[in-house]
Amino acid sequence: MSFTQYKPVATRLQRSELACPGSNPSMIEKAANSAADFVFLDLEDAVAPNDKVQARKNIIEALNDIDWKAKGKTVSVRINGLDTHYMYRDVVDVVEQAGSKLDTILVPKVGTPHDLYMVEAMVTQIEEAKGLTNRIGLEALIETAIGMANVEDIARQHYTSRLEALHFGVADFAASRRSRTVVIGGLNPDYPGDQWHAAIDRMVTACRAFGLRAIDGPFGDFNDPDAYIAACKRASVLGCEGKWAIHPSQIEMANDMFSPPAAEVDRARRILVALDEAAAQGKGAASLDGRMIDAASARMAQNVVTVAEAIEAKSGAAKAA
Ligand code: GLV
Ligand code: MG
Repeated sequence: MSFTQYKPVATRLQRSELACPGSNPSMIEKAANSAADFVFLDLEDAVAPNDKVQARKNIIEALNDIDWKAKGKTVSVRINGLDTHYMYRDVVDVVEQAGSKLDTILVPKVGTPHDLYMVEAMVTQIEEAKGLTNRIGLEALIETAIGMANVEDIARQHYTSRLEALHFGVADFAASRRSRTVVIGGLNPDYPGDQWHAAIDRMVTACRAFGLRAIDGPFGDFNDPDAYIAACKRASVLGCEGKWAIHPSQIEMANDMFSPPAAEVDRARRILVALDEAAAQGKGAASLDGRMIDAASARMAQNVVTVAEAIEAKSGAAKAA
């Protein structure tokens, strides 16, 4: 193990992340009562320019009026990009008026670490001025060619310690790179394999190197559950912790696909017990079900158990509510 190590910055259950336009209060209400682990209230691309001001107001009201925690949700707001004149007012209004209720800010189209520096500086000033005690996290959408070219540098958090996760925004990424797509996040049959593999793979490595969560973005055809499930599987095996749902019908599929199967959780728990017992006898390795297990098995098992515990905590809280 290198002496340089980055521990997970923040652990949050993020199997499904429901995208919800801030311009639609009834959708916000439904999102709060959905089964999603995470909801992001959108001020960016799902909101038309003429609706931006009203969307901000709706989001501030929804953050203040709905008890998102009691509903088992992490709640985030996607602000507008730094290339727009909406962005500063998004941060100022939302954090000043509802910052104590906000878990994270999702920053779109992050291209360089300096983009996060600006948001970090603004959030820190507002938190201090308002005496906020919750620490608002940042999440960055990697969805441009420049963002992907700088992804390791962005993940390294030169200027922010709030960054918790990177998301792969396949739609804007395709537009930025002029990749030929058939459906947002889907596979183009002209390409022999998965055309998004290299990008997601690179982002996941950058995330894990620096203690961040990796989240896969949208899949556009909500009438094609099989293709959505296939996309979840591809992202999950590479190491993503969750995927966006752009339609409520995608939530349960993401929750299922990013939950470790019961047999895997059971085996992970047995691995940890077997290795504890081996350690008590002064041994570093053990055998379980006829296979050798060692400290690397314990690290993999602990990852599985940590997710399982977060899922159990969420369903325990839901039953108690
Ligand atoms: C998400 O914002 C995307 O562009 O895919
Ligand atoms: Mg986008």
